[in-house]
Amino acid sequence: MGCCVTNYLTNGKLHSMNQPSFNPKQIISLLNLLIVAVLLLLVVSGGLIASLMIKPGKLPTVAGTATTANKTIQPASPRASTLWEAPLESSLPAGSKGEMIRYGKELIAHTSLYLGPKGTVAQISNGLNCQNCHLQAGTKPFGNNYGGVASTYPQVRARSGRETSIASRVNGCFERSLNGRPLKEDSKEMQAIVAYIKWLGQDVEKGKKPEGAGLATLAYLDEPANPAAGKLLYEQKCVVCHMENGAGLANGDGTEYVYPPLWGDHSYNQGAGLYRLSKFAGYIKANMPFGATYDSPQLSDEEAWHIAAYVNSLPRPSKDLSKDWPDISKKPIDHPFGPYADGFGEEHHKYGPFKPIEEKRRAQAVSN
Ligand code: HEC
Ligand code: HEC
Repeated sequence: MGCCVTNYLTNGKLHSMNQPSFNPKQIISLLNLLIVAVLLLLVVSGGLIASLMIKPGKLPTVAGTATTANKTIQPASPRASTLWEAPLESSLPAGSKGEMIRYGKELIAHTSLYLGPKGTVAQISNGLNCQNCHLQAGTKPFGNNYGGVASTYPQVRARSGRETSIASRVNGCFERSLNGRPLKEDSKEMQAIVAYIKWLGQDVEKGKKPEGAGLATLAYLDEPANPAAGKLLYEQKCVVCHMENGAGLANGDGTEYVYPPLWGDHSYNQGAGLYRLSKFAGYIKANMPFGATYDSPQLSDEEAWHIAAYVNSLPRPSKDLSKDWPDISKKPIDHPFGPYADGFGEEHHKYGPFKPIEEKRRAQAVSN
């Protein structure tokens, strides 16, 4: 790739300097070439080199993109300004309150150091960090961030059928995503995590889930998601970090993952959010391979669904889910365990196609 980028670059630069002597047709094709060059550069260098090589005066549109890219790091999106952003660290309260919030952030980012198999505080979880799934300590747009938590909890959740506080939702992830045991609600660690999550969402209007909070939602495919197609994609796009056997890679002293596991004994269990195809696909679409963002994704929707099907077709810890979804008609469309009120089977609920289930449920709702 290095060779071709350089060629484009050299060509682009030379031609743009000669530009006035070309006829309009040539200029258009040169512009095309330049746009390709700039796009490649954005991918390779985040647009830094691009803005140096192209003089803004000559190509306002292309250079404009490059300039914005420098400012925001990612290519600008028309929605960027309306997305939730975390408060600045500099606005942290002083004293012990600020200390608790900082400790909460540290626990989200490096959960395993404190609470993993070799945790210094307790050994209650599988070695994942919250941040492995709630990226950038739960602040990344569509990176499963916590922007909509303080404003929407406590809430009655259909999974438990009960009112759920932030602390019990956090424990939901400890027991499922971290395949572990719950933290005591009055422990310093739980209080710190809750303090951090509340501080993150302090400016969000009560009851509102801000744009960019949580995960991206992908349109359903017309056909079932296909684990065999997903396997091929996994081998091209994921295997370098998450490994052939899905076990990821731990750091030298085994206290944290460099690349977290995607299946097997040390991964999230069958009760976890990511075990649902729509959540997994939405997560990877905006965040994986590592470095992808919602506005420069590296997977098509279809690829994301197929990879989700592959990863979630492989073995992982189980969990007693018999108390979940006391009202079975409220089970999410992609909850892979029956019984269901809509007449479709487990396989269909796991891999789709989801549109027929959605239509049937809509019809049922109307006739009720
Ligand atoms: C293996 C991935 C994974 C890990 C690790 C993980 N979570 Fe989650 N978490 C999820 C998913 C998926 C959801 C559901 C998101 C959705 O439904 O939009 C979620 C939801 C949440 C929510 C509710 C968000 C909302 O907007 O309703 C909170 C709070 C939360 N997690 C906290 C934590 C904490 C704290 C940790 C670490 C102790 C943690 N999670 C670890 C995957 C994970
Ligand atoms: C360049 C390395 C790299 C590649 C390639 C990559 N990932 Fe990741 N992945 C990571 C890292 C690092 C994390 C943890 C992020 C963090 O803690 O900030 C992660 C986290 C995850 C998680 C959540 C944590 C977990 O273990 O469950 C999932 C799911 C995931 N990746 C799926 C994928 C899929 C699917 C692909 C291929 C489309 C992929 N990744 C490609 C590095 C990578």
